[in-house]
Amino acid sequence: MKILVTYMSQTGNTKKVAEAIYQEIKGKKEIKPMSEVSSLAGYDLAFVGLPIQAYGPGAEGKSFLEQHSKGRNIALFITHASPEEQPELKEWLGKCKAAAVGANIVGIFNCRGELSQAIADFMSNSGDPALAAWAKERPDTLGQPDAARLKKARTFAREIMKKHSRG
Ligand SMILES: Cc1cc2nc3c(=O)[nH]c(=O)nc-3n(C[C@H](O)[C@H](O)[C@H](O)COP(=O)(O)O)c2cc1C
Repeated sequence: MKILVTYMSQTGNTKKVAEAIYQEIKGKKEIKPMSEVSSLAGYDLAFVGLPIQAYGPGAEGKSFLEQHSKGRNIALFITHASPEEQPELKEWLGKCKAAAVGANIVGIFNCRGELSQAIADFMSNSGDPALAAWAKERPDTLGQPDAARLKKARTFAREIMKKHSRG
């Protein structure tokens, strides 16, 4: 059995989750950014990670999923600046799942990630009051994903591996 962990990460948060997941996988495994993956053929299971950007999957993650998901076993992991309890998250995660056209989605993990200073500055200066208000939430996101969230990511990876080896 061969497992791939692949991710898109603009500011490093999703990469941290990817590395935590990768550490938990036993046996044949690879980790690489999705820009270096040309196909998911040959992998029994792929963990695919991306950040939420503009209320859904970012452009690179979306196009990767649309192109490579068909007939594949995929576990999604997603980071976002909003708190996990944010009601709109359901819809944003739904859009990520929908992008994985034809996949067998074996699980989905999501957690908060830090809103970078550069992105917060961009939002503050965008002239859009909703984005400017959002930028003010940056202090609440600092240091995310933290150790507790990365631990949850590792638990997720173990559960998926257990389920997959049974099934
Ligand atoms: C262009 C852009 C748009 C974003 N839009 C959202 C959003 O709609 N909802 C949200 O919760 N976070 C949003 N974020 C924050 C990121 O999802 C969050 O910081 C994520 O952890 C970044 O992951 P990365 O470091 O792997 O790129 C946005 C970030 C960027 C750069």
